[in-house]
Amino acid sequence: MPDGQAARVGSGGTGQVHEARAGTDAVRAAVEAACREADARRAALRAWSVDDLRTLARRRLPRAIFDQFDGGAEDESTLRDNREAFSRRRLMPRVLVDVARVDPSTRLVGGTSALPIAIAPTGAAGFGWHGADVMIARAAAHFGIPYSLSTSATASIEQIAEQAGGRLWFQAYIVKDRSFTFRLIERARVAGYEAVMITVDLPVGGKRERDYRNDMSIPFRYTPRNLVDFATHPGWSLRMLARGMPVMENLRGVAPAATTAKGIVSTAGRNYDPSFDWDGLRAVRDAWPGRLIVKGIVRPDDAERALALGVDAIVVSNHGGRQLDGGIATLDALPGVLRAVAGRASVLVDGGVRRGVDVVKALAMGADGVLVGRATLYGACAAGQAGALRALEILRDEIERTMRLCGAPNVEAITADLLADGLPPPPAR
Ligand SMILES: Cc1cc2nc3c(=O)[nH]c(=O)nc-3n(C[C@H](O)[C@H](O)[C@H](O)COP(=O)(O)O)c2cc1C
Repeated sequence: MPDGQAARVGSGGTGQVHEARAGTDAVRAAVEAACREADARRAALRAWSVDDLRTLARRRLPRAIFDQFDGGAEDESTLRDNREAFSRRRLMPRVLVDVARVDPSTRLVGGTSALPIAIAPTGAAGFGWHGADVMIARAAAHFGIPYSLSTSATASIEQIAEQAGGRLWFQAYIVKDRSFTFRLIERARVAGYEAVMITVDLPVGGKRERDYRNDMSIPFRYTPRNLVDFATHPGWSLRMLARGMPVMENLRGVAPAATTAKGIVSTAGRNYDPSFDWDGLRAVRDAWPGRLIVKGIVRPDDAERALALGVDAIVVSNHGGRQLDGGIATLDALPGVLRAVAGRASVLVDGGVRRGVDVVKALAMGADGVLVGRATLYGACAAGQAGALRALEILRDEIERTMRLCGAPNVEAITADLLADGLPPPPAR
């Protein structure tokens, strides 16, 4: 129940009785939610993979919420192919290298990162676990990696800066009222964010059919399906009851309906400006003095144009398969973009990173690093702060283990010759 509704309970003739009962119910709900949280934390510590965290998140969340995070567009072929592109690559490990110590730290977009990972922007995370944005940002700071805050996050630009710290990037969508976007960017500058990330693969929202099927296109419209869904996931429901529904803090004032639970999915992309083009990107470059990252490029010619505008980094991304279904897997797009960029800017890649070995493969192909979206989101949805930390702990352990198994004691040693298909052909006999 939203906060506003709880406040109205005592306004009738028997107001005090209702108020007291509402108070007791809220306390009970909070206690039950706390017990479930403790269980969730214990379970997260027994997760051995990001996929285990996904399973825990799926159990805890109403289907409509889980699918909103987990799903992709249309037939989800691009979503699947992002993962499969990682499986298609194989490594040829070096042996007999001293790997007693490994160092996975690197430079990402002009700063040091303890791992070749940054957190991708994910909107609406608070619907999975109250306060998830801050929790994921704190986990990133704890692990010494950059965190990207989404325009459609359920925490404000300032809240993340005050409560998490660390290296912060602000992901800006261009809303129809462009001056609003520029005000967000200015707020990010004042709050000390080091980079602005412009996402360019969402001129309109992708067709995410799981949302339609789960009645998430008009969310929390209480259909029989939704009621059963929420009733059978009391951990999530009690927590939302106790704390109220989150809002998209950075979009306050843009489209009132879109900041509430009711509008969240049905308006995905509705406020964004489909006329945003290269001139618009140039205007952002002119206005923002810090590092500029463009996210959502898969074509070499687009990478060239972005570089010509003076962007500092490109994220090869298809929005985790949530936008154009049938689009190329990001790992398949990476070599072309790398050739076009030719070392003139940082190149990161995202989409389907679930294992440390995926990170090592992306680096061996030439990426400077990866973004992870769902990995930490699953963790936070499974167990809040503990789950977000666990996701990064799992990835760090797997990266270090893979580096040891590949004879790569540091990131510089993760080179193309580690790829099974990256070796030169054998000499002709
Ligand atoms: C639930 C969810 C919300 C997302 N919200 C945003 C967003 O607000 N802005 C953005 O640029 N990308 C957003 N993305 C895309 C991610 O930044 C990233 O590109 C994608 O999740 C990477 O794939 P992965 O989840 O397989 O790691 C979102 C992804 C998910 C799963």
